[in-house]
Amino acid sequence: MIETKLERKTIKGNGYEIKPSLDHGRMYEIELDREVLARFFEEVKTISSQQLDYIPYMRFIMTDKLVKLLDENFQKTVRGILHDRSTGGFTVGVGGYTEDTEEYVKFSTAFSHLVGIPNFDAMSGNYYARFSVKHTDDSDSYLRQAYRLFTLHTDGTYVDEATDWLLMMKFGEEHAVGGRSRLLHLDDWEDLDHFYNHPLATQKLVYKAPPSKNVIKEVFRTTFYERNNEPCMCFIDQFVHPSSIEEATYLKDLSSSMEKSSETKGVDLPEGKLVMLNNHFWLHGREAFEENPALHRELLRQRGRFA
Ligand SMILES: [Fe+2]
Repeated sequence: MIETKLERKTIKGNGYEIKPSLDHGRMYEIELDREVLARFFEEVKTISSQQLDYIPYMRFIMTDKLVKLLDENFQKTVRGILHDRSTGGFTVGVGGYTEDTEEYVKFSTAFSHLVGIPNFDAMSGNYYARFSVKHTDDSDSYLRQAYRLFTLHTDGTYVDEATDWLLMMKFGEEHAVGGRSRLLHLDDWEDLDHFYNHPLATQKLVYKAPPSKNVIKEVFRTTFYERNNEPCMCFIDQFVHPSSIEEATYLKDLSSSMEKSSETKGVDLPEGKLVMLNNHFWLHGREAFEENPALHRELLRQRGRFA
């Protein structure tokens, strides 16, 4: 399954550059020119994030403001990266132009609506969710627990709608050592064939969310499915409810194989930067943080469908 080194080149466009990422061999890094960032934030200055919350069409206006500052290939190229099985991921940031979290919401909205429509996030009651990771946590899932490894998973396992992509943006952090994102592309996983060809790979399993997610319904999903004739995956250890020892053992072995994979890579995401990934063939998680009572990190997430 493991491909030989990808042949990837830098794409120079009008107002931007898209380069192979130095953080992960499959990802790209998008760099917007400073004038583009300056003009974008200037043009959206009078639009508040509250307007984005209340008026759905304003979210597409964010994207429109951005694409009009770039050449006509930009949107197609970014969508192409997310759909392309050999990559399916990129990072892009505000380049230190702003540290205002209100502006971060606008920036992330421009990128999410460039590729599709975010799903309703029941945890926040909005199209995005902002959440913090701190020293203490009394929640009911790993999302906000700083000192334990957040195991590799896909998003949207317990919701009805398709979750084609996910976006995570770092809003800020203090006293955060460790806690890098952990990423694994399905085609890099040494044991994919074994688990994909296993009789339980297409067994329907129940997914249930804990109370904090505000999703009451159960959904049935298979661990593996095909899309464009390629294996794709749906998995998260916390919300899948196996009904036998065999199913439980399959899931446990699958999780520990991914955790142990030498292809699972830790990636830093600086403040003001976002990562977008294809959720069908990328698994993501988080390293544990080093203990510090003053630890604080704030993130924004969006998940959604392709246009
Ligand atoms: Fe996640």
